[in-house]
Amino acid sequence: MERQQFQLDSFLRGNIKDLKPYSSARDEYSEVSGDMVFLDANENPFQNGVNRYPDPQQYKVKSQLSKLKDISTDNILLGNGSDEVLDLIFRAFCEPNMDAIITLPPTYGMYDVLANINAVRNIKIQLSSDFEPNYDDVLSAANAKTKLLFLCSPNNPTANSFKAATIEKLILNFNGIVIIDEAYIDFSKDESWIRRLKEFPNLIVTQTLSKAYGMAGIRLGVCYASTQIISILNRIKPPYNVNELTQLKALERLSKPIAISEEIKRILEQRDWLILELKKIEFVDTVYASDANFILVKVDDANTRYTGLIQQGIVVRNRTNQPLCENCLRFTVGTQQENIKLITALTNL
Ligand SMILES: Cc1ncc(COP(=O)(O)O)c(C=O)c1O
Repeated sequence: MERQQFQLDSFLRGNIKDLKPYSSARDEYSEVSGDMVFLDANENPFQNGVNRYPDPQQYKVKSQLSKLKDISTDNILLGNGSDEVLDLIFRAFCEPNMDAIITLPPTYGMYDVLANINAVRNIKIQLSSDFEPNYDDVLSAANAKTKLLFLCSPNNPTANSFKAATIEKLILNFNGIVIIDEAYIDFSKDESWIRRLKEFPNLIVTQTLSKAYGMAGIRLGVCYASTQIISILNRIKPPYNVNELTQLKALERLSKPIAISEEIKRILEQRDWLILELKKIEFVDTVYASDANFILVKVDDANTRYTGLIQQGIVVRNRTNQPLCENCLRFTVGTQQENIKLITALTNL
């Protein structure tokens, strides 16, 4: 299929087109020796490990990710969690009180929150009953004002990955930017879409260190896109948006890919065990297939079962008020001991 001509400039928010970014003290010089004296940023000169501002471009972390993911550092932008990355995308492309986005509920709640914060209309096109995007409905809802389309795959809370053929058709035919939120991609049997970025100039892929990488506490989100899109997001990001401690911790963790893969393997084994056990619980109606580190389960009465679990000291996510999720609870896969506790508590209800 031939994609239509894509002109990034025509999707940019007016005031961003000509924005002059903040130029930080460390952006304005080239090193002449490895022993420069820094009297430019009003820092405290006494060393304690974090007395200096962090690298605003997070060069070391990006280099590490570039090697791991086999992608150029120019195609990477880092944020204070992927939530910050998503917010930057709104600010770059959506004119407040004018533009719109399309999301596919039930899905990750922050898209709607960010749309509200940025005064952007959120057009919600519900997933089909098997949790797939309704391709025709999405395209019919698109118009000159719908700048962004959010696809969360694997999707939170339904846990499935969308069919690759549908995603591809949406990227090719949606006349705007498509964001694939791959927060859970490391648990998935499917390949990341970052492999296909070169084919699709309107594609942004977001990932995070909060899930499979076990680093939710450091807040590090990753955005992969064309160099053109990355340079625009770079212009509007706060200069020091990823702090020094986060960069150090991320580097340490990213240098241990085998340990990360082993944890993922254990989580997936536990997921399979939980699915088998959940199916045996008498008040469980449906255990949906999972391509992530959580499981969506339909029970007889989600509110009662949720409260019953809290009383036994177990917190899960009650999704009963989400479309298509009536009486559904979402269970994150924990350690073996935690999962045994969950199954025991459910059996006691
Ligand atoms: C689909 C999805 N995207 C993004 C995030 C947020 O990621 P981060 O911790 O990087 O902000 C979450 C967190 O639950 C999520 O479920």
